[in-house]
Amino acid sequence: MSIIIGFDDYLTPAKQLAQSLALPFQQVDLHRFPDGETKVTIPTPLPKDIIICRTLNQPNHKLIELILSASAAREQGVEHITLVAPYLCYMRQDIAFNDGEAVSQKIIGKLIAEYFDRVITIDPHLHRITDLSEAIPIKQAVSLHATEAMSAFLQDKFENPIIIGPDEESYQWVQAIAKPRNWQYSIATKQRHSDTNVEVSFSSNDDSQQFNLTDRDVVIVDDIASTGKTLEQSVLQIQQQKPKSISIIVSHAFFVDDAIKSLNALGVNNIWSSDSVIHETNAFSIIDTIKAQLDKK
Ligand code: R5P
Repeated sequence: MSIIIGFDDYLTPAKQLAQSLALPFQQVDLHRFPDGETKVTIPTPLPKDIIICRTLNQPNHKLIELILSASAAREQGVEHITLVAPYLCYMRQDIAFNDGEAVSQKIIGKLIAEYFDRVITIDPHLHRITDLSEAIPIKQAVSLHATEAMSAFLQDKFENPIIIGPDEESYQWVQAIAKPRNWQYSIATKQRHSDTNVEVSFSSNDDSQQFNLTDRDVVIVDDIASTGKTLEQSVLQIQQQKPKSISIIVSHAFFVDDAIKSLNALGVNNIWSSDSVIHETNAFSIIDTIKAQLDKK
């Protein structure tokens, strides 16, 4: 019998996971000292096999606390530790673009591999690699998708939406959502000039089908919304075709600074995200997807 161990910043989904698996849940106690260090106290006693569930947005202190927790668990004789991190941090920097840049994907991947036997995540941002175990060198590095949950959620909302991806990378998610339900889809091309300056274009892209969006329910899909600029630029392009509605659905909602306000100001009808990252836009859950993976063990 295993146990789900959670943290105060991701309690509801972690408890849901425990409930769905009919496993006990216990919480790690964190005491933050005035100097910024954390005292980590894990539950005791623990079984030989444990599952730690914590999502890794705002990751710096969370990573340290996870390492302290995993190490303390090993001290208790725990033999197998699964990390369920619905959002996995530091996966974007997968090469050094300039001299001196740390390749965070490899460094953090290796660090996680030292402490955990299995890692389960949702839509990690893997650009130049396809297998998560290339980033986290362990046998069980499992990358799941939010697309099934997204597709089911959208089916309840629209009869015949058209699904739009803002860049080539989104092709995989757009297809996975649209194809099983015979919805039309289209993929734009994106050029990023800086963190906050992106250009999105819907002009011809060989891989994409181009459709008239006038009077259609349009849904833009992406894995991450960070500054929201990719979505903003997509919305501005789509609006030129006068659709019936524009909705946004993402796996991981960051929407930093005024991103939500700016998208609302553009007249976006709906902004939805999964509970991989706790956010006001959370509308559907990826916990069942993770449960299904854990059930396979
Ligand atoms: C990038 O390739 C990702 O799929 C997202 O499109 C990107 O991270 C979104 O970032 P932002 O919201 O800052 O435009």
